[in-house]
Amino acid sequence: MNQATPNLAILGLQWGDEGKGKVVDLLASKYRHAVRFQGGNNAGHTVVVEGQAIALHQVPSGALNKDCFLVVGSGVVLNLEVFRQELDRLKGRGFDVLPRLMMSKKAHIILPHHIALDLWREERAAKAAGGKIGTTGRGIGPCYEMKVARMGVRLGDLKHPEILIERVRPGYEEVRLRIGDAAKELPSLEAIVSQLLETAAPLLPVIGDTQGHLMDAWEKGEPILFEGAQATLLDIDHGTYPFVTSSNCSLGGLYTGTGMPPKALHKVLGIAKAYTTRVGAGPMPSELLDATGDRIREVGREFGTTTGRPRRCGWFDAPITAHACRTNGVDGVAIMKLDVLDGLDEVGLVIGYRDGEGKLTSVLPACPQEWTELKPEIKRFKGWTSTRGVTRHDQLPAEAQAYLDALAEAIETPIAYLSTGPDRVEGCVYPGTFLADLI
Ligand code: IMP
Repeated sequence: MNQATPNLAILGLQWGDEGKGKVVDLLASKYRHAVRFQGGNNAGHTVVVEGQAIALHQVPSGALNKDCFLVVGSGVVLNLEVFRQELDRLKGRGFDVLPRLMMSKKAHIILPHHIALDLWREERAAKAAGGKIGTTGRGIGPCYEMKVARMGVRLGDLKHPEILIERVRPGYEEVRLRIGDAAKELPSLEAIVSQLLETAAPLLPVIGDTQGHLMDAWEKGEPILFEGAQATLLDIDHGTYPFVTSSNCSLGGLYTGTGMPPKALHKVLGIAKAYTTRVGAGPMPSELLDATGDRIREVGREFGTTTGRPRRCGWFDAPITAHACRTNGVDGVAIMKLDVLDGLDEVGLVIGYRDGEGKLTSVLPACPQEWTELKPEIKRFKGWTSTRGVTRHDQLPAEAQAYLDALAEAIETPIAYLSTGPDRVEGCVYPGTFLADLI
């Protein structure tokens, strides 16, 4: 199909929170369909309407474009109560998205016992040698776990209230057995089911065949924007296991989470910050446990949208980002928040790691123990005064330009967009890249 606007995936290339929301906002007006395909309300993005911030977790960021149809694909896990709150918040701001929303009948539902199991497990793990994952506590892992164990409850099941209790029962009983005394806090099975039916009632008309909807859109040449949640280093297969989320946040998850074939996707835009952040536990060789790390956190306002936790901050880590570019077949990267590094005397770029024997490598280990043996190899660049609000890359200070050139070379992927401030006009589209015709 030769359509003018490419079907595009937007994927995080680090450990999440790269600023995907701003890029979606810049592009949404070009797209007729915006799709979420994995994750749940562990994700969080803030959209700004008439100067007021609205926190969204499960509704696609394309919601603010009133011409955009919103799709929640089969790979998503949903907390329906939270979902309804998001819809209400949007409606209160003039965005009634229900008439332009479809949710996959195959998407799984997060239930109270999934949340209880998530919290119980983290509490136990905190006392054990391996330590906890630092999950968002939203029941994401257990919900995906039940899906794979074939004990999940899907949106399509809501259309059969008479058998719903039997769909919920196996998972509920298994969790009760596992968590022992903590199960006393759980609502009864009957209460869970009746609450679920009540919460879901207004959503029933929009539960449908999202795969068919997207196939039709693709055949008609209506452009589709696929919005990834979390990021490649949190991917259950290709991330820093076990310190990851429970879905495929990299490209593979787009196909399983929508039912679309690879040829339906035309371009992949990877999103990375000009430095690195991570929330929760797990390897992060570039982490700065010093005043520079604190400064990046303060200036970049690096606190979680979902849990409010301070994010760990460090230099841009080229090996992890190069891995993410390869895994996702990224056509171009958007580098976000360059201005946060303004005013530093020196800016570091992690170009590789030294292993236990002092050998330089950029290969990511598979075992957390091996990560602890790696020391970052940092290339240092002279800092710059200000990039804030720059809209043309050839107007950047020479020092910032040198840093970005080295970064792009290290990840072997061209920069397509650079963000130089929170406002939508603060940024540069790189001429000659596929984004040049889109933004
Ligand atoms: P879970 O997804 O709640 O199971 O959490 C697993 C790991 O993924 C934890 O380290 C979380 O902090 C991290 N995580 C999950 N969602 C996000 C996100 O949207 N941004 C950043 N980190 C996330």
